[in-house]
Formats: sequence, structure tokens, C-alpha cells
Amino acid sequence: MNQRIAPSILSADFSRLGDEVRAVAAAGADIIHFDVMDNHYVPNLTIGPLVCAAIRPHVQLPIDVHLMVKPVDRIIPEFAKAGADIISFHPEASEHIDRTIGLIRDSGCRPGLVFNPATPLNYLDHTLDKLDLVLIMSVNPGFGGQSFIPGALAKIAEVRRRIQACGREVMLEVDGGIKVDNIAAVARAGADTFVAGSAIFGQQDYAAVIAAMRGQLAAP
Ligand code: DX5
Ligand code: ZN
Repeated sequence: MNQRIAPSILSADFSRLGDEVRAVAAAGADIIHFDVMDNHYVPNLTIGPLVCAAIRPHVQLPIDVHLMVKPVDRIIPEFAKAGADIISFHPEASEHIDRTIGLIRDSGCRPGLVFNPATPLNYLDHTLDKLDLVLIMSVNPGFGGQSFIPGALAKIAEVRRRIQACGREVMLEVDGGIKVDNIAAVARAGADTFVAGSAIFGQQDYAAVIAAMRGQLAAP
């Protein structure tokens, strides 16, 4: 199974985002995680398609857009134009989940569905066969630097079982409070893609943190 480290630029220095994405790419990141918050669906306000388009020329890695916005649909074509590769949304923020998944696919991006800590997995019942990514939140969305909620581990294991049963390749990403000292447990539960914001951008040496995370993933 491919394991991917996805630095969340929410914790980067926004005054020099181009340098920051180049630095994490050079440090061994696999994906750039891009958190979009609207001060409506979540109580914080961050960045949109203009910023996605601005960083796009600085990095060749896939850009993984995590939409914490409501409504969702009308912003999707804007992110596709801005160079997003993956676009994920929260089912509570969409009136028509199947339509939103289709919009993402039709715009040329890979669709993902995001589950808050208290969002039930039954939203996967009629969607998993159309998704390329399931994102399990291990914090309540809205802010970087929060603590990992341990209940996420059982949920990750359940999603892994569902992905195996459906027989398609679907990325299983986890977001919130991931650090060097808990990434192995998250991987053991079944995740393959690990978002980390403050754990990476809070350190001087990005390559050292990413290498330490990979070391944990490689340990038996
Ligand atoms: C939270 C965001 C996360 C956040 C993670 O709503 O979706 O991507 O940046 O930050 P850390 O790794 O600091 O918990
Ligand atoms: Zn995120």
C-alpha cells in the first residue's frame, strides 16, 4: 500500500506560500493538503481558488483541496480551474451528495468525502463506489493544532474494511492532530494518507519531520 504524507499548508507561513510548498515538496511530501474554510460551515476563514492557482506553478505534487464550505457546488469548477487534483467535501454541506461527487468528477478532479468525528459512516453506503478518497477527521474541523481524537481509530478501521469489501482503490486519508508519535497507530488502523499541519510547519527542518514520520510508518 502506498503511504503518503500530506502537509497541510494551513500551518505554513502565508506570506511566503510559494516557498513553503516548494520546501515541503523538497522535504519529501507526497501531496499538498489545502484547507478551505468559509466562516460559515466552520468558524474560520482561510484561502480559496486564487491562492490555489497562485501556488500551482510552484509544485508538481497533487493538490488535495479539503472544502469546509457550504454551499459546496458552485466553488468546485473554480478549484478545478485553479489546478486542484483532489476535491473533498463534507456531506452535511451538500444538498445532493451524489450530484456534488459527479460535479467533481466531471470537472476533471478526483472526488473525496469527509467525515467529522460525529458524522456516521452510512454516508458511504451509496457513494463509496464513486469516490477516490475517504477523509476521516480526527479533530473537529476549523483549526490546526488540535489534539487527535482517539475514537477516529475505530472509524478508520471500519472504512478500511469497507474499502476492501468494495474492491476498488480508494485513498484513506486522516486529518487532525497527526504527529510523529501517533502516525504509526493511525497507519495500523488502516489509513494510507496522513495530513499533518502543525507537526510539520511547526518545525524548522521539514525533511527531518517527514523522515521521522516515514520511519514510524516503516517500523514493524
Ligand atoms: C482542520 C484542517 C486540518 C489542519 C490539520 O480543520 O482540516 O487539515 O490543518 O492541522 P494539524 O495537523 O495541526 O492538526
Ligand atoms: Zn484538512
